[in-house]
Amino acid sequence: MRLLEATFAEKVSRDALTASAWGRQLSTEQFLAREAALRSHPFAKASMRTWLWCAESILSSCETFEVAASRGTTSGRAFIVASVFTEPALRGKGHAVAMLNALVKRLSTPDALAVVLFSEVGPTIYERAGFVGQPGVDLVFPARAEASPSAVRWTTAIEAPPHRGDPRAVTLVLSAQHCDWHVERERFYAAALHRPAPPAHVARLNASSLAVAASFQRNELHVLWTEFHDDADGLALLEACAELAQRCGLPSVRVWEARAMPTPAGATRVERNDELPMLCPLDGGAALWANVTQGLWA
Ligand SMILES: CC(C)(COP(=O)(O)OP(=O)(O)OC[C@H]1O[C@@H](n2cnc3c(N)ncnc32)[C@H](O)[C@@H]1OP(=O)(O)O)[C@@H](O)C(=O)NCCC(=O)NCCS
Repeated sequence: MRLLEATFAEKVSRDALTASAWGRQLSTEQFLAREAALRSHPFAKASMRTWLWCAESILSSCETFEVAASRGTTSGRAFIVASVFTEPALRGKGHAVAMLNALVKRLSTPDALAVVLFSEVGPTIYERAGFVGQPGVDLVFPARAEASPSAVRWTTAIEAPPHRGDPRAVTLVLSAQHCDWHVERERFYAAALHRPAPPAHVARLNASSLAVAASFQRNELHVLWTEFHDDADGLALLEACAELAQRCGLPSVRVWEARAMPTPAGATRVERNDELPMLCPLDGGAALWANVTQGLWA
């Protein structure tokens, strides 16, 4: 078996197969257009590779996105694995696990700190390839009509948060391009499904800020990152998200609670059982991933 990088033609023929897994709400043509739009975005152009696990034919495939990362005072790279896929007739034969084992070996270079992913199918399959789950909690709260005029200011620029390192755990650098890639997905679904897109994506109040993108697939407003310096300002920013969600016809807002957050009206905290963050260390350090915000998802 061999792990190969896909050619452009192989990527497109793989898209046609994966439409069944990730093309919900879209026609096959729309899904192919979505993949083309996301692949031509600057974030993907700079960081994305498609991998094929092959014998005489393709057995499994996946993508990786390379991002900057750090652990303590060491700076390096991390790889986010996405779109792990085996065709239905080939499933249950260990192809995906074998591909991931080969991929982890291939990506192990001296400045590579970790390979990470967000599992949609629980931890078991990825544990077999050396990944360790990083349990997390989501803060979910309902959309609501504007309660009172607020001093929160929304801006159309897409920005990244300051990088927050950790002495023991791997942290990934979330770039403005990566955030804009989420907004590109939002733009695509807004046009395809005729939904109103948020007019702005970054909100500020005094020294605090956050960024959002609509997920029309999940029908939620997602908070990509938060940078709160004051609880009252953080709460006002989250409440502004509830109002923005209402304007876009999204019933709720979801924040991955990487750090303790103020609690908006009607909020519940739920353990994450979908998009479970998992990490496989490549630097010999602990399998710990800190500050996992939703913006890092790929
Ligand atoms: C998930 C997927 C990639 C697995 O591919 P595969 O080649 O069959 O995987 P392997 O044979 O290496 O491993 C099989 C193991 O995966 C796990 N697994 C597969 N599908 C699963 C699912 N839907 N939910 C939970 N675990 C699942 C099981 O632990 C299974 O082991 P078991 O057969 O002993 O129960 C394949 O089912 C697929 O393409 N699904 C659709 C796309 C998808 O959901 N991808 C994952 C995104 S995170």
